[in-house]
Order: sequence, then C-alpha cells, then structure tokens
Amino acid sequence: MSSLTRFGGRLTGRLQSLTRPQAVVLMAALVLIAGVWVAAGTGHQSLAISLLALLLLVVLVGILHLSRWMGGLYRASQAANRELRTVVEQMQRRVVATVEKERLTAGDRHQELTRTITRGLRQNGHGNDLLLRAQSREIEAMFQLFQEFTPRAPMPSSGDFALNPTDLLELLHLIKLHQPRLVVELGSGTSTVWLAYALEKIGGQLISLDHDSDYAARTREMLTAHGLSTVAEVRIAPLSELTADGRTYSWYDVEQLTDLRNIDLLLIDGPPAATGPDARFPALHVLESRLASTATVVLDDVNRPDEQEAVRRWTESIAGLSAEPNLLGRHAVMSYSRSAVPV
Ligand SMILES: C[S@@+](CC[C@H](N)C(=O)[O-])C[C@H]1O[C@@H](n2cnc3c(N)ncnc32)[C@H](O)[C@@H]1O
Repeated sequence: MSSLTRFGGRLTGRLQSLTRPQAVVLMAALVLIAGVWVAAGTGHQSLAISLLALLLLVVLVGILHLSRWMGGLYRASQAANRELRTVVEQMQRRVVATVEKERLTAGDRHQELTRTITRGLRQNGHGNDLLLRAQSREIEAMFQLFQEFTPRAPMPSSGDFALNPTDLLELLHLIKLHQPRLVVELGSGTSTVWLAYALEKIGGQLISLDHDSDYAARTREMLTAHGLSTVAEVRIAPLSELTADGRTYSWYDVEQLTDLRNIDLLLIDGPPAATGPDARFPALHVLESRLASTATVVLDDVNRPDEQEAVRRWTESIAGLSAEPNLLGRHAVMSYSRSAVPV
C-alpha cells in the first residue's frame, strides 16, 4: 500500500515537472490511446488503425524532439567543456608565470646573497689580515722591550687598558733619547712599571696619578715586587670638578700636583674615557705651566675622536706645542718648548 502511495507520489512529481509541450504531447498520446481502445472495443477497426497510426506519428515526433533536445544538451556540454578548458589553460599560464617570476626573483636574491657573502668573506679576510699584522707588530715590540730590560718579577700584561707594547717601546725610546729627570703619568698601571725600569737606568723619577685607590694600590704592589718603589711614586688623585676653556670636566684633584715643577715628560693615559666626554682635555690646561722649558707630551689612544680633538685644540691654542711624527702605536707625541712662546 505504502509502495503504491510512493509510486503515486513520484508519478505526480514527474507530471508536475513536465514542460508545457511535453504535457501536450502526453495528453495527445493518452487521448489517442483512449481513442484506439474505445474504437477497437466498439468494432470500429479502421478508426482504431487510423488512431494507432496517429499515435505512432506522435511517438515518432516525440522521439525526434527528444533527440534534438539531447543534441542541444550535448552541444551545451561541449561548449561548457571548451570554456572550462580555456579557464584551466588560463590558470595554468598564470601559475607558470607566477612560478617563473618567483624563480627569477629567487635567482636575483641568490645572486645578491652570494655577492654579499663574497664581500663579507673578503672583508673578513682583510680584517683578519690587519689583525694578524697588528699582532705581529706587538709581538716584535714585546721582544724588543724584553731585550732592553730584564724585569726582576713577572711583568703585568700590556694592551687593552694598559699601553700596547708598541706604545711602550716608543715611550721608552723617548726616555732614552731625552733623558728626562721627571716624568709624570696620568693613569697608572703596567706602563708605570716599564717607565720606572727605564728611569732607574738614567736616574730619573716618576710620579703616577690614579683616581682609583684600588688600581693605585695594585700599581704600588707591582712597583714593590719589581723593587722600583724608590723610582716611582703612585698618588691617589680622586676625580673632582674642574673648569677649563669655559667647560666643566671631571679631572684629577689638582692638589696632588701642586709640588710638581719642570716635568720633562708627561704621559696622559687617564682619566678613562668612561669618566666623561673629552676626559683628558684638561691635562695641559692644568699642567702646561708645570712643564720644563722643553718637554715631551705623550697622549695615548689617539685612535679615538676625543683624543684627536684634544691634540687639535692643544696644538692650536698652546704656543710652543707641536705634534711630532710618532713611529709606532696608537699614541701622539708632542714637543713643547717655552722659549718658542712669542714675547
Ligand atoms: C688607561 S688606564 C691607565 C693604564 C696605564 N697607563 C697602563 O698603561 O697600564 C686609566 C685608568 O684606568 C684604570 N684601570 C687600569 N686598569 C684597568 C682595567 N683593567 N680595567 C678598568 N680600569 C682600569 C686605572 O684607574 C687607570 O688609572
């Protein structure tokens, strides 16, 4: 019962979905079938045959219509296929173009990277080369230092905060050359010991200033270990405010310098740069009047802009002070002559 109901439902659905021409053909066929049936039933054979022929004709027309409709459907599906193929081809072309573009960009990037790496390697190689050469110079200087002096205790290390061997070598050469009686050093450390050895040989004296009591104590200990305490004195001079050329600096307590006269050689290696900008500039402002009539001034770390600026300002403003060519290291040598001051 229920399958009959379902069949009825499906049939009704199909009939409702028929187009108008289909409904007309169906109706005509049903009428003809009914006509054939009635004619045959009532003995009208020739009418029944005629209606049967008409029914056949309707069926033939229906088949023709169906085949035309299917032909249209086939053509529409072919057109849709062609359109789809065109879309797919266009998409393929776009994908290939994008991939090609990315490949070219990646190629360019790869070339650029290769160039950068090559440049980096070359520069690195150059940097290593410079470093090796600088190290060789320091080793050569170190050999010469130990040939000239035979320390009585292990020497503290040079370089970094301390003067480099090349700077020490030229400093000791200046001492040999000018035979100073009094050397003043701003910033104590390894250099204090080397200077003391050089001054011991020629009967000179060294006064070394240090703003830091711990470093001053270390230097004193080193001097004691080397038996140089009578040659060199380390003074603690804490940093305090000082005005020079209209600017305020943090510099050594000048009270520690008042007894100093006729300084033959002044080594400026402090205060450390970290204590403030142009930290070493006040040195000559304070000590120029305490230099001997002819003296030598050495400033370390002239690889730094502040120290280069200090040399420029001093040599421009202090009469009788001129820069000398230095042979080695990262320091500047200046000669001072008071007689050269115009009257
Ligand atoms: C440039 S250092 C002086 C070095 C000294 N003229 C020499 O050649 O050994 C200046 C000041 O830095 C401090 N100093 C020394 N050695 C240091 C270190 N290893 N680290 C930090 N400060 C140091 C000391 O107070 C010293 O007076």
